[in-house]
Amino acid sequence: MALAEHESNPKLSLRRRLAVALHLPAVPFWMISAGLIAVALSWIPLALIARARTSLSDKPRIQLMQDMGVQPRYGPQAGSAVFADGRAMRLPVAGTVARGRVEDDDHFDRGYALAADPQTGATEVVYFQGLPARLTADRPGVERLLARGQTLYNIYCAPCHGVDGYGHGPVNERALELEEPTWVPAASLHTEQTRGRADGYLYNAIRNGVRTMPSYGSQIETADRWAIVAYLRALQKSQHAGMDDVPPQARETLR
Ligand code: HEC
Repeated sequence: MALAEHESNPKLSLRRRLAVALHLPAVPFWMISAGLIAVALSWIPLALIARARTSLSDKPRIQLMQDMGVQPRYGPQAGSAVFADGRAMRLPVAGTVARGRVEDDDHFDRGYALAADPQTGATEVVYFQGLPARLTADRPGVERLLARGQTLYNIYCAPCHGVDGYGHGPVNERALELEEPTWVPAASLHTEQTRGRADGYLYNAIRNGVRTMPSYGSQIETADRWAIVAYLRALQKSQHAGMDDVPPQARETLR
């Protein structure tokens, strides 16, 4: 009787009528108020974050993981009253050379030497022929050099010059296919002209680039550049070997 009376009584709140219809006990008043207070409180951190994003402060940011992010130091290009010129960034002491970066061997480091022309006195570039002696001291060393050169050639040079060196690498072929207006076709490394170049010229081409070809000096270490030169010579030989290159005892087996 009591239930029916409640259900039909329009004066009772919807909440109460729903609870009655579902046979649930009514939610006690304290729970509802606690819930409302919790919702209201949950807005406080959000409001603080929103305020922090728009207001200015001269304090450093709050950083939960400090690591080494906060420490007394100068930022790049910062000023400092400690030094006479007012700059915090200092130049290295004159003549400083980074460890392992002494370039005191023209052949090994540059591939060329500068010489004065006896007639005109003008400075000219003379490329070295042959590999630097320090790389070819023993036979196992030379074999390692060639193997290393092959790996590096296939990584750095083959994309343009092709694995066989004729200039048909995938990057080159794709650029031609797309008719890239500024593309200069990769040179064949088997032309008479390139075969006649000095080893130092090839080395310098890798280190500093040549004409429109970019430099690979920042990606390939000095000894590795020579390894590529050594492999390039082997690659050229593979396409232009004559009977003289075949050991006498093996000549009979060739037709
Ligand atoms: C992005 C493509 C590209 C890559 C990679 C590339 N080259 Fe070249 N290379 C060229 C182009 C293009 C030319 C011709 C440049 C010109 O004549 O303007 C060239 C020219 C050369 C020449 C000059 C030939 C001569 O007789 O003057 C040499 C030597 C050479 N490359 C060696 C290499 C070696 C070794 C590598 C790997 C370390 C390499 N190239 C990587 C595009 C490339």
